[in-house]
Amino acid sequence: MKMVKVVLNEGKAIHVYGSALVEVLKGTISIYGKRVKANEKVLLHKYRSYPLLALEESVISLVMPEESCIKEVKDQVIYEWISAAKEIIDEVHATVVVIGGVDSGKSSFTTLLSNELVEKGFKTAVIDSDIGQADIGPPGFISLGVLEKQIIWLRELKPLLTKFIGDIRPQYCVDKIIREVVNLKNSALQELKASVVLVNTDGWISDPQAITYKYKFIEAVEPTALVVLGIDLKGLFKHFEKTGVRVFELPSPPHAKQRDRDERRRLRSERYASFLKEAPLRKYKLSEVIIDGFQLLQGIDVDPMKIYSETGVNAIYASINGDILNIVVQQSTSEVEVDRVRKLFGVSKARICYTGFEKGFYVALTDDRGIDHPGVVDGIDFLNKVIAIYTYFEGRPKAIKFSKIKLSRDYFDQLVE
Ligand SMILES: Nc1ncnc2c1ncn2[C@@H]1O[C@H](COP(=O)(O)OP(=O)(O)OP(=O)(O)O)[C@@H](O)[C@H]1O
Ligand SMILES: [Mg+2]
Repeated sequence: MKMVKVVLNEGKAIHVYGSALVEVLKGTISIYGKRVKANEKVLLHKYRSYPLLALEESVISLVMPEESCIKEVKDQVIYEWISAAKEIIDEVHATVVVIGGVDSGKSSFTTLLSNELVEKGFKTAVIDSDIGQADIGPPGFISLGVLEKQIIWLRELKPLLTKFIGDIRPQYCVDKIIREVVNLKNSALQELKASVVLVNTDGWISDPQAITYKYKFIEAVEPTALVVLGIDLKGLFKHFEKTGVRVFELPSPPHAKQRDRDERRRLRSERYASFLKEAPLRKYKLSEVIIDGFQLLQGIDVDPMKIYSETGVNAIYASINGDILNIVVQQSTSEVEVDRVRKLFGVSKARICYTGFEKGFYVALTDDRGIDHPGVVDGIDFLNKVIAIYTYFEGRPKAIKFSKIKLSRDYFDQLVE
């Protein structure tokens, strides 16, 4: 650990890389718009970098591990961001969409703008539509939070409304994301009476398909202002000015702390864990809940005894879904046996699942209001038709929605097809 004391003149900033405990000894600083005054402390997260800007002459102390560091700010990015945020507030925009590539500063700019809005007394809602690097809700969800105070990163926001997408790759669920974002935006403005809704997006922007998606997104969400981060996108979204949208093209932080795949996966695992760790195990009768996204439980039940007596295959559970027969078995079953079962029911395909395959599936439990809550499957008791899920959701779910994600014991995700 090391301790550093820094004196900053008004308007001056430093960058802090890595975790640090910051204490303001004198004056006031702004961290992404959050005002930190004398005698206040803030803990900076290790996977991020932060500009600390003095709003008046300030003295700060930083306690940090050896690997964290401080650098002088040589660029104008934070100043340009602040002046854009001021313009957006002055112009009074009800919906603002923030777009940019991976690590372009979307979440940070959203944080800054929302803090400045809070500073001016606006009721500010943030929608997080980045299913891969979810900041407000759990990964695989679109979520909405409302600022009750200023924050240094979006993860401090409590997810008020959460909608399950069930994937962490936007390219596979473009329409679903757009639909849910529009729903949440309407809820924010009408039910929650937010004055401003900020919509943070995912960083998928580097190919034509991605641009088409972002265009569709903007057309559906109908922002009055659009913030585009990164010079690589310059001009691409300016076209929206023709429809009366204010477009702010802003630079990305030049020495942003880049996160590699592993770091992203770790951040995601932290995220899953914070919504699921130590959640109680709850059991639901399959006869009382709708199952979505899991073919095996969405078909018509077939008597396993019939399969056993006619083919010798010891099935625990089986169902027919369209032209596919799904069978759950305990022991390895040969192709010849599977084919025998397939022929017995005259279907084109028989799919074998081994008991325990369902363990770790990431799911959502839908409540009466249509809000989705995260859970992870422990197992299905096929005999008694009961599903056991670890979840903090206490009510009786209307539906259990399955994702394409399986979680390991330490909440690392893996996609299953
Ligand atoms: N103005 C800035 N000065 C210094 N560092 C910054 C600034 N803005 C953002 N950063 C840092 O750059 C990194 C990326 O920023 P951020 O997470 O906001 O980007 P993003 O576009 O939301 O990324 P993702 O694609 O992962 O969602 C973070 O470590 C953040 O702390
Ligand atoms: Mg982000």
